[in-house]
Amino acid sequence: MTMDENIKKEAELLQSQLTEHNYRYHVLDDPVISDEEYDRMLKRLVELEKEFPELSTPDSPTKRVGAPPLSSFEQARHAVPMLSLDNAFNDRDILDFHQKIAKMLGSSDILYTAEPKLDGVAVELRYENGILVQATTRGDGVTGEVITENIRTIASVPLRLNDAKIKPPSRLDARGEVIIKRADFERLNKERLEKGEPVFANSRNAAAGSLRQLDSRITALRPLDIFVYGTGLVQGMEFERHSDLLSMLKAFGFPVNPHIRYRTDINGAVMFYRELENLRNSLDYEIDGMVIKVDEIRFQNLLGEKIRTPRWAVACKFPALQKTTVIKDIIVQVGRTGVLTPVAVLEPVTIGGVTVSRATLHNEDEIRRKDIRINDKALVMRAGDVIPKVVKIIESERDGSQIPFEMPLSCPVCGSPVEKTKQDRSSLNKCVNASCPAQIKERLAHFVSKKAFDIEGLGRKIIDQLVDEKLVADFADIFTLDPFTLAGLERMGEKSASNLVRAIEKSKKIPLRRFIYALGIDHTGENASRLIAECFGTLDRVMSASPQELEAVHGIGPETAGAVHAFFANSEHIEIMEKIQNAGVVVMDDDTSGEIMHDNAFAGKKVVLTGTLASMTRQQAGRLLEELGASVVSSVSSKTDFLVAGDRAGSKLAKALNLGIAILDEKKFLEMLKHSQ
Ligand code: IVH
Repeated sequence: MTMDENIKKEAELLQSQLTEHNYRYHVLDDPVISDEEYDRMLKRLVELEKEFPELSTPDSPTKRVGAPPLSSFEQARHAVPMLSLDNAFNDRDILDFHQKIAKMLGSSDILYTAEPKLDGVAVELRYENGILVQATTRGDGVTGEVITENIRTIASVPLRLNDAKIKPPSRLDARGEVIIKRADFERLNKERLEKGEPVFANSRNAAAGSLRQLDSRITALRPLDIFVYGTGLVQGMEFERHSDLLSMLKAFGFPVNPHIRYRTDINGAVMFYRELENLRNSLDYEIDGMVIKVDEIRFQNLLGEKIRTPRWAVACKFPALQKTTVIKDIIVQVGRTGVLTPVAVLEPVTIGGVTVSRATLHNEDEIRRKDIRINDKALVMRAGDVIPKVVKIIESERDGSQIPFEMPLSCPVCGSPVEKTKQDRSSLNKCVNASCPAQIKERLAHFVSKKAFDIEGLGRKIIDQLVDEKLVADFADIFTLDPFTLAGLERMGEKSASNLVRAIEKSKKIPLRRFIYALGIDHTGENASRLIAECFGTLDRVMSASPQELEAVHGIGPETAGAVHAFFANSEHIEIMEKIQNAGVVVMDDDTSGEIMHDNAFAGKKVVLTGTLASMTRQQAGRLLEELGASVVSSVSSKTDFLVAGDRAGSKLAKALNLGIAILDEKKFLEMLKHSQ
């Protein structure tokens, strides 16, 4: 079949449109079309290229799905070697680095650019006349492996350089770090666990393993991402500064990290080192330090390099979040719902400035999968505010003294039998005794916690004493505690006792959603509790709801519906509800339910938020809108009812104007919100 001009034009248009939409979605995080529209266009392009293979250029967006497997990786030399970096571990080392450079350059007037040091896999991407022609791993720095097909599958890697105003250089070797975002990594490991495949120890290993696939169709399924931080060989373009080079890379469509301090003196760099360390846990990808680079390329060239490392840059490392230590024992904790959780007792180690002496082992399967034994030497990690966990054991350190762990057949706290069940395909061991003191303590701690009854001053130690001394056996008992009883507890003065009683009194008026949450019903967290409260409005209605009625609530699944129904069908629980109310607790009806929800300008409408609002974040605005029954969507289409446009609204505003959609500026939006509540 011969191809006519129109088909060629259609394919080219689809290629450039898809490239643009892909960039908006994966690099700018600002899509202007829906996923379905994108998929439809891509499907059409795939069809065209299948029929007319000559349309299938190497930079076509269809190339991101992977190619037939290779039998081995080819090797390729880097035009300019990929160096590594000297390390600095503290402020002192950074200042030493600066002083050395200042001496060599004969001036201390040096500006630096400081960037996060991304914890991933270094790659080089070679572009000829703006088209990606080859991608390589760092390898030994001189020669790497050719992984072009694998790199093509990364959605945020440009297959062609797309700045309309600037002609791309004839040759550009971009360098960057391939990473996997934290949430994607967790999801990937969860999937692997479910499929019975070995999990990755960390996101760097996962990224490396994914790039090492001979079958790029497998790589295409992995959630890889990239940040570009520099160049190797460049021909046909020159830069005076590293910061200019980064701006240019950004203009060409590469993802450049947003947390970069451009052109700062050394003190600014030291300050940024601290800022980044504080930011570290809230980033959605792993960084292990900061890289400081001399900004003027002229100075970089003057300084030159040593054998393996440049003199003009230094890696400022953060304290490691993984360390090895010994598992001295494995104990078992009993949770709120009776679930037994094995916990490793560690030889204490400081990880990232915090002493760690326990690590969760999750469940029996995890212990078996990782073959964790008492007396094993293990790699332990602390990631942000998450509970420390055992990454893996070090098998080569075994000396015969290791003891395998067996889950107890009876509850370590109350001695009741342990029941084995399955949940999400992992085994669960449960203490069957609902009055197990460990369970009661956990339930009470949850009941009084911040998002529940929020009783200040009622901490774990006091709860433990109250239960151990049989002063409290259920939720209701908390509300009849008197100052004399409390003052009799260890380390409790009269003053704190009366403060605590006051805090308990104050907590007695509670909104329905928090009350439901406080009960600690299986599968019923904050969100489910809110949805149920909004839908049923009163405690009586929730208590008498059938599983079907509960499941009919938007966002509530069969597990939650079943658990809530079973909870209130239990006669002991009904008694406790009565006892709680007799003790003076008032559960306030949920007033966002019923008529109000459906009688406002936003109810049932599709709303898009764009730009920056002065009075609230987009997230807060979204939440308010959802409470009013609106659905908040991310891209503008003819079905959109309102576009809320804050400051610096861009393409979404343009599109909405085009489609004649009602546009609300912040003032109008706030006014409508006011009238809707
Ligand atoms: S610049 C000559 N910048 O760190 C300069 N490297 O030990 C070489 N890395 O293999 C690298 N983030 O993979 C640079 N913002 C960043 C980086 C970074 C991570 C890695 C890179 C390299 C290693 C250097």
